[in-house]
Amino acid sequence: MCIPEQLEPHIPRYKMIASHIMEAIRSSRLGEGTKLPPHRLLADRLGVTVGTVSKAYAELEKHGLVSARVGDGTYVRGHDHEDRGYFRAVTNGAQDVVDFSLNTHISMGEVSLLADTLAQLAAQTWHLHGVLQYQPDSGSLPHRQSGLRWLARSGVDGSPENVVVTNGAQHALLCALMATTRPGDAIGAEVLSYPGLFAAARYLGLRLRGMPIDEEGIVPEALEEACALGVVRVVFCTPTLHNPTTATMSLERRAQIARLARRHNLILIEDDVHGTLVTDHPPPLHCYAPERTIFISSLTKAVASGLRVGYMLVPAELRQKVALAVRASCWMATPLVAEVASRWIDDGTVDQLIRQQQEEIRRRKALVADLLAPLDVRSHPDSLHFWILPPEPWRSDELAEELRHAGVLVKSADAFAIGRHEIPHAIRASVSGGDSDQILVDGFRIIRDMLVVGL
Ligand SMILES: Cc1ncc(COP(=O)(O)O)c(C=O)c1O
Repeated sequence: MCIPEQLEPHIPRYKMIASHIMEAIRSSRLGEGTKLPPHRLLADRLGVTVGTVSKAYAELEKHGLVSARVGDGTYVRGHDHEDRGYFRAVTNGAQDVVDFSLNTHISMGEVSLLADTLAQLAAQTWHLHGVLQYQPDSGSLPHRQSGLRWLARSGVDGSPENVVVTNGAQHALLCALMATTRPGDAIGAEVLSYPGLFAAARYLGLRLRGMPIDEEGIVPEALEEACALGVVRVVFCTPTLHNPTTATMSLERRAQIARLARRHNLILIEDDVHGTLVTDHPPPLHCYAPERTIFISSLTKAVASGLRVGYMLVPAELRQKVALAVRASCWMATPLVAEVASRWIDDGTVDQLIRQQQEEIRRRKALVADLLAPLDVRSHPDSLHFWILPPEPWRSDELAEELRHAGVLVKSADAFAIGRHEIPHAIRASVSGGDSDQILVDGFRIIRDMLVVGL
């Protein structure tokens, strides 16, 4: 059975144990009817007291996941929780596949933390009353203040007046585009970019213009050229942990891009969703050109993908337009969810969850490091994925298809490509997939075995 090897010092031990078992039940590693280890046995294995294990099992029982049979033991209950709509993030319904195609947060202790926060909220009826009211379109002041604290983690600073709360980064991106473009406009972006940008641009009738990238991201000369032609006024980019290449701009490159933006009067939309995972975050573009940069962040990669809360820091002149875009799209970000995010930001829960996330990413990557050693692989210690460049004669789309047949889902470079530019042959494989260490390693072994033949 899956039990934590080590316990996170900042979360009560019983919660940590309960959370790991919950995750094992959710992912079906612990099937219906499985008997949990006797209290004393698990306590000895984990070096905790029997009382701690009893509290963990009681927590699971409270959530309806296990039932205790007197004199017999504790058993995993049937999956009636799934019938009630319990969410399971899978793979387009496919079974028996390892899904490395999605960059999602890795579930750690957040389930029981959410249960606690909701219980606290339930006891504070005056707060419940507040979150059931209409809020200003940019979010309530306390929520924007928490947003500012969140954004400060990445090194940006501003006034709460210029913070806009959104339902995640995709929503923020949509609002940024709505506020800065008209149908028919051209948007510059890294030639390999986040596919959510494509969806939003298509919907708004915008043309995407791919800019060549190198190991730091957008090549300044390419941006200069597009600006000289006068075709681009708005540029989307991801300076820190670019998705999918994991490239991170040097300080010099950031300064160059900011200078160009100023010279050509560009608006920059800076996406920092993956940057939230970076330990020593370099100063964002926003620091170099705050008057023209819309900075976008969210809790989804580092804390929980379903906690749909994003924050934007917006130049004062654009504030009204962005607020109108929020109003037009959803009136305001959902206050109840924003309240959970605020509490977690303000009480330090996010710091703890991010630290755990970083540790787990590194641990998982270490498990497969030897396997990938013979291959051309790019990554960053805090990135959720590997960017794997296969040897000749592999094409990325064929490789992704072959891997799918072998039971491993990855994303091919084509999924990130703008237009018909030449792009590298590469696949993105995320360590957030794989329901156990063994499945993770087996999945990466399949990738390795397919690629090392002929090396
Ligand atoms: C670069 C980038 N930006 C934005 C998003 C969307 O983030 P959210 O889930 O907060 O909408 C993603 C999600 O994959 C992403 O990779």
